[in-house]
Amino acid sequence: MNDILPSDVETWQFLEREAHRIFKLYGFAEIRVPVVEKTELFCRSIGETTDIVEKEMYTFDDRSSNSLTLRPEGTAPVMRSFIEHKLHALDPVSKLYYMGPMFRYERPQKGRYRQFHQIGAEAIGVDDPMMDAQVLAMLCHYFDAVGIDNVELHVNSLGCQECRPQYRQALTGYLESRLDKLCADCQRRYQTNPLRVLDCKVPACQEATKDAPSVLDLLCSGCNDHFAQVRQHLQELQIDYTINARMVRGLDYYTKTTFEMVTNQLGSQNAVAAGGRYDGLIKELGGPALPGIGFAMGVERLVLMKGEQQVQPPRPDVFLAALGEAAGQKAFALMYRLQRLDLRAEMAFTGKSLKAQMRRAGKLNARYVLMLGEEELASGQAQLRDMDNGSQEPIALEGIEQALLEKTRGN
Ligand code: HAM
Repeated sequence: MNDILPSDVETWQFLEREAHRIFKLYGFAEIRVPVVEKTELFCRSIGETTDIVEKEMYTFDDRSSNSLTLRPEGTAPVMRSFIEHKLHALDPVSKLYYMGPMFRYERPQKGRYRQFHQIGAEAIGVDDPMMDAQVLAMLCHYFDAVGIDNVELHVNSLGCQECRPQYRQALTGYLESRLDKLCADCQRRYQTNPLRVLDCKVPACQEATKDAPSVLDLLCSGCNDHFAQVRQHLQELQIDYTINARMVRGLDYYTKTTFEMVTNQLGSQNAVAAGGRYDGLIKELGGPALPGIGFAMGVERLVLMKGEQQVQPPRPDVFLAALGEAAGQKAFALMYRLQRLDLRAEMAFTGKSLKAQMRRAGKLNARYVLMLGEEELASGQAQLRDMDNGSQEPIALEGIEQALLEKTRGN
């Protein structure tokens, strides 16, 4: 679990701000749900035999012996809230987004943490493949907006209740003769969740399953048609994608379309965003039979990808350098008036030499420095230095707020 220090927070705020901006263009509204839910919610939605539920949840009993869990992801809590507040009664289509911390007891490494943050979006109530393409378009738009281009969109279809069992059977049959080549985890997965074997990172397992049957060959006609239309809509929108039939995802609620935004920049933690359709989830959780599709991005991974292009804090518009007590008082009051006019104004607060104050202004990267001493107070004229070109000019103290506002506007 990490502290996020001020030097990184600018980038975080930028990534969050762009999510608010872009998602609203697509008609998504923010929802905020608690970080703790009943444990049962995650068991029922993510699936009892997934890694998350089997070994990664922070679960505890509260003082009334209710089993609670720190949320490992955002989709299930948002669906719980959607059902509880009957949001479907307000609008047949709900487009929701959220951001915040998630918790998984995983082995930490670069890009993988125990408290991490997601920005996610969920579109509920539309089963048309056009919505799949719309959600993917929004995701791509977001990556463009935040300037992360070293990513590839991988898509797949995992079928539905009708065709997935057939695929599971075909895959189990295929794996049976190769069991001795699989790692211990995969031998267990073979019993509980065979699709996850395709996702194993162990090279021997990848080698042993490299010609496994493809889920795409066994889709029912409905799922096949849906996937074909999603691809066609992506082409219409000129969104590049790669079909990856081995992408199985680590959560059980998916149906039909699944996808990941992957990068080769983060070692083995290559998914920067991931999601898919979950047409049976809301009903499974006791709500109406409504379809849904969504994604979540890992904010720490986005920040790592921004790398060198960290977002800089805004520079102060003006630094007030005052010499002497009377000038200090005057500067202090002026600073507050400037701040009330939405200008970023700073001063040194301690009676430092002019040289030391200029150094501080330089360190803060102030745009202008206003120099104020006894002489300037007497004459009603201060000195204003433009820190970008080093030029200096007198400026009347009378009406100085407006003059500074005009000079710094658009900075
Ligand atoms: P997920 O694939 O488990 O899906 O997580 C989504 C993203 O969260 C990952 O691609 C990754 O960027 C980030 N992430 C996951 N675990 C960690 C971790 N331990 N440390 C850092 N980042 C991590 C979901 O959570 C689904 N709820 C997504 C979804 C929304 N599907 C439909 N709607």
